[in-house]
Amino acid sequence: MVEASRMKSLGVDFPFMVAPMVGLTHVAFRATVRHFTPKSIHPLLFTEMLSTRRLPFERIDRVDELKTIAGETHFIPQILGNEESFIQRSIQKLMPLDPWGFDINMGCPARQHLKHNWGVRLLGDKDYAARVVEMTKKHSPVPVSVKMRCGQEIADPQFLDDFTAALENAGADWLTIHARLQSQKHKGEADWNLVGDLRRKRSIPIVMNGDVQTAADALEIYRSGLADGIMIGRAATARPWILWQIAHDLGHTESPEAFPGMAPPRTPEEEGRFFLMAMAEFMRNLDRHFDNDDKNMRRLRFYVINANRWFLFGHSYYSRCMKTKTITEALRMTEEMIDTVNFPMTSRINFL
Ligand SMILES: Cc1cc2nc3c(=O)[nH]c(=O)nc-3n(C[C@H](O)[C@H](O)[C@H](O)COP(=O)(O)O)c2cc1C
Repeated sequence: MVEASRMKSLGVDFPFMVAPMVGLTHVAFRATVRHFTPKSIHPLLFTEMLSTRRLPFERIDRVDELKTIAGETHFIPQILGNEESFIQRSIQKLMPLDPWGFDINMGCPARQHLKHNWGVRLLGDKDYAARVVEMTKKHSPVPVSVKMRCGQEIADPQFLDDFTAALENAGADWLTIHARLQSQKHKGEADWNLVGDLRRKRSIPIVMNGDVQTAADALEIYRSGLADGIMIGRAATARPWILWQIAHDLGHTESPEAFPGMAPPRTPEEEGRFFLMAMAEFMRNLDRHFDNDDKNMRRLRFYVINANRWFLFGHSYYSRCMKTKTITEALRMTEEMIDTVNFPMTSRINFL
């Protein structure tokens, strides 16, 4: 029997979500994911990490990373920081966007963040990390979560137990564990069982992240009780319809508005065709939400670099895309390919 997800106690009925990713999880991508998700499903989607040192001084209507879809609910800004006054002012700044919650980054290994003792550096001091949770909770009227790695250099269940207990005691509403060590960066396999063991020790919800690439992966973790929720990262760029597949597997028969009466794509060929449709939708969303074509081309290229990894013969789309100069040109090229070319999509890849 599947144990009920503790995310329900926070009002989350569908505990499958898309990870925060710099340069990827902006409004155009979130709109693309929502386009391929049935309307009655409300997945939590994250912004990329946002510096609390910068937010207080920015005009939120001018920050590209803070753009939202009109009426967007269930999105979570992820914040990076450790000083109470900056955290407080950042939260005040962001509240008018009506976020569902705030997430604290304790996993980013980028050097410029380590020197400020942000990101994964917080893993080195559990009391300090717990204080960051306390100060965020103190100023946030909405749920506060932490996204962290499962360790630094070695897998140490005792460390993970102590650290997450401190965050739970500090008031974190839920935790996402990226089941890779700091030293692995984004490579190699994630240790899902380590997170499963932890889940039994905590009473707040534990969300699994790392190397979840297919709906079957997500459901395997969920059904075996290893986590209360599943967060999908890079694979969601290749398969922005993955939440639809998961919902369908869980018995939701509704289709996304754009695909009335259809079942989600399943075969490598169907997914390959949907990928081109998703790329076209992504470009329309870039154009709809951002007005600088050069920046949009950079966003597009970065997206394709990430998503293209699921195509054995994807180099052709990748190279065609890289040759285009404007979003209009890239969109035309993609639309022409939808009915003429088919690249089957690989189910799982190795993150080398
Ligand atoms: C391009 C890129 C940007 C990322 N940016 C963030 C970020 O802003 N905040 C964060 O917590 N993690 C970030 N991550 C890590 C992802 O959220 C996720 O933990 C990681 O990709 C593992 O999940 P996956 O194996 O499903 O991709 C980023 C990862 C990538 C590839």
